[in-house]
Amino acid sequence: MSQIVITEEALHWQEVARKVAEEVVRPIAAKYDDLQEYPEEVRQAYIDTGLLGVWIPKEYGGHGAGTVALCLVVEELSRACGAMGVAFAVNALGSFPILVGGTEEQKKDWLPQIAKGEKMIAFCLSEKFAGSDAGGMRCQARLEGDEWVINGEKKWTTNGGVASFYTVFAVTDDKSRSRRISAIMVEKGTPGFSVKKIENKMGIRAVPVVETHFDNVRVPAANLLGGRPGYGFKHAMATLDKARPGVAAQGVGLAQGALEYAVTYAMRREQFGKKLASMGVMQDMLGSMASKVEAARGLVLRAATAVDLNDTAQITKLAAMSKNFATDVAMEVTTDAVQIFGGYGFMKDYPIEKYMRDAKITQIYEGTNQIQRMVVARNLVREAASFDFLNEYIPVETYENYQAVFEEEATADS
Ligand code: CAA
Repeated sequence: MSQIVITEEALHWQEVARKVAEEVVRPIAAKYDDLQEYPEEVRQAYIDTGLLGVWIPKEYGGHGAGTVALCLVVEELSRACGAMGVAFAVNALGSFPILVGGTEEQKKDWLPQIAKGEKMIAFCLSEKFAGSDAGGMRCQARLEGDEWVINGEKKWTTNGGVASFYTVFAVTDDKSRSRRISAIMVEKGTPGFSVKKIENKMGIRAVPVVETHFDNVRVPAANLLGGRPGYGFKHAMATLDKARPGVAAQGVGLAQGALEYAVTYAMRREQFGKKLASMGVMQDMLGSMASKVEAARGLVLRAATAVDLNDTAQITKLAAMSKNFATDVAMEVTTDAVQIFGGYGFMKDYPIEKYMRDAKITQIYEGTNQIQRMVVARNLVREAASFDFLNEYIPVETYENYQAVFEEEATADS
């Protein structure tokens, strides 16, 4: 079943986000990109307008508007500034593990603080030696009495330093492959927790991306998400399923924003005695860019609707598809937009080169697009196991045991 459901409430939050984007974000985007600093006025605007509660259910202090609303908001913010889009979206990423795996008590304790904007939250999964292979992490947590003691470091923590809560994934049982990892909540200010390296980045420069270090960090046993160890990897994967449409929406926003600048420039710039927008070669580019943006938006909303409807059979695949497709579109469209601006596009006098720099990371974080395509393919193979209607045309023994594909994949990798 294919469908997109956009509620009135989601459209309301889109309007709110558009206002914040135009009145607060766009005017300061270049300045904070240059300074590589987090704009406090944007954080305040997110709090004042209630945007930080959009995806959090009403029973936990949010607006309960869902993932479609979250994506529409992220698109609007990213249309004005990619960094401020992800600075917002990462709060959803950090809070989804609580929604996915937290106990009722944990949800009631932590989520309202995030929804009101009193506390921002970051997601600590990646490590220096565990990027795409998230399960290969080394950060450790051991139970001592009624406390978890965490040691290790995390890489590329977006919003690190700005956030008050950190959802930290750590190895709690090195003997078990499938139950190695647990998620534990750490608050900024806990002794032993520190932000060590603030990255100097190509794009999304206004949002900090840092290393977070854990040196004998002690937190109450009650901070273990879900109250039982060993479910962290599954919670991380289920979280990414919900969050990837948000990065995809960031891609759509960047592409839409760049397209708007490109078409405006093409209508004003004259060469060979005529406006660029009247030239066939430019129309070819603009038409193609606009079509890609619209296709990406449709896929993002389809994936986000699957999350809202809890369409478990489709969420993982659609989330990966939307992330992969929309962020590739973001890179293509922003690069084409720079091309339309020509020499001016390469210079910092115009806002367009920032879109191209901001777009690049969307193809990399929350799982590289190569990982997304692998996830899509794995799901396709699973689905193909039930393609009985093709039995007549392809002998069943060639595909009935779809597990064999994964075994071959594993053998090839080793
Ligand atoms: N939902 C629930 N459970 C899932 C799942 C899902 N979508 N996908 C896998 N699992 C479960 C499996 O069922 C399996 O469970 P059992 O052991 O009980 O069988 C377990 O997780 C392991 O699954 P896999 O064997 O498929 O795991 P894998 O090691 O092959 O890895 C992967 C799979 C898809 C490559 C995964 O490691 C991955 O997504 N990697 C990319 C990491 C990533 O996205 N990092 C993003 C960091 S956050 C970030 O970038 C944010 C930012 O800065 C803004």
